[in-house]
Amino acid sequence: MQIAVLTGGGDAPGLNAAIRAITRRALDGGHEVIGIRKGWLGLLEGDTFPLTRDSVSGILPRGGTILGTSRTNPFKADEGEARLMRTIERLGIDAIIAIGGDDTLSVALRLFKMGVNVVGVPKTMDNDVPGTDYTIGFDTAVNIVMDACDRLHTTAEAHHRVMIVEVMGRDAGWVAGVGGLSGGADVILVPEVPFTIEEVCEVVRRRHARGRTFSIVVVAEGARPTDFGLQITQDARVDEFGHVRLGGIGALLAREVEAQTGYETRVTVLGHLQRGGSPTVFDRLLATRLGVAAVEAVEAGKFGMMMALRGTKIVSVDLEEALSGTSPLDPELYRLSRLFH
Ligand code: F6P
Repeated sequence: MQIAVLTGGGDAPGLNAAIRAITRRALDGGHEVIGIRKGWLGLLEGDTFPLTRDSVSGILPRGGTILGTSRTNPFKADEGEARLMRTIERLGIDAIIAIGGDDTLSVALRLFKMGVNVVGVPKTMDNDVPGTDYTIGFDTAVNIVMDACDRLHTTAEAHHRVMIVEVMGRDAGWVAGVGGLSGGADVILVPEVPFTIEEVCEVVRRRHARGRTFSIVVVAEGARPTDFGLQITQDARVDEFGHVRLGGIGALLAREVEAQTGYETRVTVLGHLQRGGSPTVFDRLLATRLGVAAVEAVEAGKFGMMMALRGTKIVSVDLEEALSGTSPLDPELYRLSRLFH
């Protein structure tokens, strides 16, 4: 078979590990592998290249994606549907393995409904894809958040400051919750649970009263301060999937906390550091297992499915299930985070 692979949406450490696993397993199975450049844009434009043992050699520890990525919604392009089908026919593609989050997988599902053989692999540092316990890139991201909190603790303590750490996570608080808990944050603010600036100030004041003259506050970019009503955005433009660029909640919080408590406050925005660099053990292994499972699903003719991790097992779930909304931070983890306020 001719198996095509693409990576779409925001990059995340572990994408190359998945591409390598897919390529190696497919070549071993006697198939040919085609890399599609820049996500769905490459399929629109017919921008592809052969993936060989050589082209995936040495990429396991590398962040980013050798295929490149984009946030292209091909169905928004002129004659998008026809152009996608032309590339598929011209290259004789028998199956597509799409590695991505909800946006990329929503295109995969639509193609599947049009009769294209598609299998999904879940990737996003946000870990918010339903149907799987973990997505590729999340573990690396939370390790970076944990490390940042460790480092910020020492400087916060030295200067008796409040440190606000803004992390990614537009609709789900997995990165803030897991990264913050592991990094010993004193306050964790997630999109799922609106908060007031006053409750943050209250925790900081209580800590000061106990002699803890510094505090670490981890806030997801999508957290909603009830005082301001909405999520804080960088500008009003939206991408092809309708998402605004979030960002700025950290700076807003720093300003307000300093003004209302009188304690010196600084902000660190971790931004794309959370998506860069070498994947952790967990992400390498997860990407490898999901990649191999995706090729095996193709061989078995199981299309319209997403490979997933449930407990310790790799399983396949309907793409429909994977696209049934956003998987929120486990409420039990949120409860734990409140215990440490
Ligand atoms: O796709 C996940 C994500 O990491 C979000 O948490 C974040 O809002 C977004 O990507 C930012 O992506 P970019 O700056 O690459 O468009």
